[in-house]
Amino acid sequence: MSAEVSISEFEFYDLKPTAPCVQDEVIAGLNQSEKTLPPKYFYDERGSELFEEITELPEYYLTRTETGILQERSTEFQRVLKKGSSLLEYGVGSGKKSRILLDAIEPTAYVPVDISSDPLLELAHRIREDYLDMSVYPICADFTNAFELPSEVNGMQKVAFFPGSSIGNFLRSDACEFVSNVAKVVGEEGFLILGVDTRKPASIIEPAYNDSRGVTAKFNKNMLNHLNNLLGANFRLDLFDHRAHYLEDAGCVEMHLVCRRDHEVEVGDETFLFREGESICTERSYKYSGDEVEELASQAGFALEEIWTDVERMFIVALMRCKE
Ligand code: AVJ
Repeated sequence: MSAEVSISEFEFYDLKPTAPCVQDEVIAGLNQSEKTLPPKYFYDERGSELFEEITELPEYYLTRTETGILQERSTEFQRVLKKGSSLLEYGVGSGKKSRILLDAIEPTAYVPVDISSDPLLELAHRIREDYLDMSVYPICADFTNAFELPSEVNGMQKVAFFPGSSIGNFLRSDACEFVSNVAKVVGEEGFLILGVDTRKPASIIEPAYNDSRGVTAKFNKNMLNHLNNLLGANFRLDLFDHRAHYLEDAGCVEMHLVCRRDHEVEVGDETFLFREGESICTERSYKYSGDEVEELASQAGFALEEIWTDVERMFIVALMRCKE
């Protein structure tokens, strides 16, 4: 892998997907019988800001619960994970959770990976300033596909961190495949720290995805704005409504953009007809029981070392050791 941009304090690896790839994926999703857009397209700069706002909402229990568990377990991370490893973070946010782990395990290298380059570089700079003995190698990439690690981390013990219940965006079978790929990346004696939202009643889950201030609605609609900017599409945000519902048996929240009236949208050379009441599914967010987390670990080549939760069992942080 070559460093595309070299900034004085660190190498930045830019493997961002190109517009033609994005367009093909968007067109394929809109051609499905149930129109679908991948949730990774929420995250342009505005989308990342809106997501940060979501994490602070009273209804959105996930982030604050996970942060609490990580803080509570920091000495146990220290006990299990050796100093001098490399911490590989899949998707970045405010950096609050990253810092808890960086302080606990004191890695030699930190490799944050995200599809959205501005928030990624901002975080990398802030972390760089505060952890001067540590190397920082930000990678802008779509981590749902394979990507190469910087050669600098070859031979180091690897600890992957996939927080925020982002694993929930994969279908259950794809989650297993993804975690198996993480096992290949971290290798034998590598670790994965996985944050997962638990199954619980719809009365708790639905408000988290349909907040009273309408931030989630803005976040959902912003995907259309992002695609308009990226692809020159002409989605009209005023012709869609936000909807979220929890399918309890499937353990899955679905977010939709519901069309208000018949109209057409152009993406590239293709025209899509939208009917009143028809919707685009923009996100599925699967929830896991403790047993399901254990099953996921073992099917993907990991041994479950620890499974931590809060008193109300709202969220799980699992520490897994790679067996391969
Ligand atoms: C980042 C996928 C975990 O599903 O809770 C928040 C994204 N979507 N509100 C989630 C999200 C709507 C979030 N994940």
